[in-house]
Amino acid sequence: MQKSISLVEETRRERAGRSFPFMSMEERRRILEEWHPDYKPGTKRPLLIGPSRGMIVPHEVADILEAHPLIGPNEIDVTDPEYDVDVLVIGAGGAGLSAALTAQESGIETEGILMVQKLRLGDSNSKMSQGGIQAAVGPDDSPALHFLDIIGGGLFANKPELVEILAKEGPEVIRWHESLGVIYDKNPDGTMKLISGGGTCRNRMLTCKDYTGLEITRVLLDEFLNREIPYLEFTCAVELLTDEQGQVTGAVLWDMDSDEYRVVRAKSTILATGGFGRLHIQGFETTNHYGATGDGIVLAYHVGAVLRDLDATQYHPTGAAYPEQLVGQLCTEALRGRGAQPVNRLGEMFVHPLETRDAESAAIIRECYGRDLGVTTPTGMRGVWLDTPLIDLLHGPGTIEREFHAMYRMFGRFNIDIRKEPILVFPTLHYMNGGVEINPRAETSIPGLFAAGEVCGGVHGKNRLMGNSQLDLYVFGRRAGRYAAERARKVQAGRPTLNHIERYERWLEEAGIKTSRKAPILLPEYRGKRTLEHIIKLL
Ligand code: FUM
Repeated sequence: MQKSISLVEETRRERAGRSFPFMSMEERRRILEEWHPDYKPGTKRPLLIGPSRGMIVPHEVADILEAHPLIGPNEIDVTDPEYDVDVLVIGAGGAGLSAALTAQESGIETEGILMVQKLRLGDSNSKMSQGGIQAAVGPDDSPALHFLDIIGGGLFANKPELVEILAKEGPEVIRWHESLGVIYDKNPDGTMKLISGGGTCRNRMLTCKDYTGLEITRVLLDEFLNREIPYLEFTCAVELLTDEQGQVTGAVLWDMDSDEYRVVRAKSTILATGGFGRLHIQGFETTNHYGATGDGIVLAYHVGAVLRDLDATQYHPTGAAYPEQLVGQLCTEALRGRGAQPVNRLGEMFVHPLETRDAESAAIIRECYGRDLGVTTPTGMRGVWLDTPLIDLLHGPGTIEREFHAMYRMFGRFNIDIRKEPILVFPTLHYMNGGVEINPRAETSIPGLFAAGEVCGGVHGKNRLMGNSQLDLYVFGRRAGRYAAERARKVQAGRPTLNHIERYERWLEEAGIKTSRKAPILLPEYRGKRTLEHIIKLL
């Protein structure tokens, strides 16, 4: 590894003044087909049951959708709910928090809202997000340009009406954040500092150093606690409830501390449960938090909600590949946005640093496994260098410490000084591009069930661009809160049942699926074979 680092150092000054050409659409298509994990044969299968039957999804996703529900239809008495609320919010990341706040602002009494969270309040991918949030606030930018970038990045598979809302409401979300106290990075003249991300035609990324998600969540969480909205921690939804018309009317929760079920009746239920990184699709490491096990898509599918675009998984191009303790952790795209270049073991550039994530990841995988120009670590992990010292070279000493303090500290703990030496990276599972289909009111196809954030599909098509999930959380989180409140003011809560479980079991039986699998899986399992195999490999 040291020999290769010397080659990276030797070529650095010459590369600093040079760029690498972007791929043409044809080159992008070809590299995706040849090297992106989504295109690897044998890794997916068509769903055999439910409203999205026939949709091709990774085996890991099919496994949790073609599984028995955790509880039987008659296992729990759901007729006498412990909680009876207007709006139930499941998940307390960015989408859940903004939904709860907006439901209250839309006239729902504080006690009429309940937010539940599988882990601690705020534990979510939203909080871990580093690089930034996109919004068309720059003088040379517009929601129309933002719209075009999102659609192009998503391989034109997005729902255009959702993309339009995302792009148009971006500036308003930023104003809302600032009014609550989020501190965005500014230029000396007081204007927003804007950096670039992959696939964007303008510098459109607003940042809070490389702690963007942490800063936004800090402020929203403070606001949420100040308003004294009721919540439950370490409590997860194991099943939704439906009434005789099949409308969603709350959820069954499992209190992980007391090992008890809690039944919540609700006029509107909002899913804000995030994505599925902890399914480790195709064995990839992940940037995701411990609770990201795809629960929301399972719960929604049990009640018959339509899913979409789950054939497309996002692998972030630059997950850490060394040291072993950091493997899979996010090395923010903002590093590339500020000039860090991916280079191979000979110190050569091989891809533009800011291709869309799917193409950038495919290029890194090709460099490691197709051209054999990656670097192999002592544990057998392969990766390419991300030449971070270029950032200080291009923008002056101190830039890394000032703008990338999280990165600097993360590697510093292992005596890697990213100001002076490059870091080794390889794609890591980052985002669930598809999910539960929603409309512009954040309604799913099942009345009473709303969804926002990563659990949803349609906004980002087949490939999300950096910073658009942060925006999505707040645009559709607020919409979910507003329209869930509107519904709650109009409807009577239905009589809760678990009838849909009987139907789901029938679907499994009719499709001939014989399995002992149960879902949602709630927490990932690391004690089994996977870990053992890994340890044996290290010995
Ligand atoms: O690279 C990053 O900082 C990730 C951002 C995102 O996924 O939006």
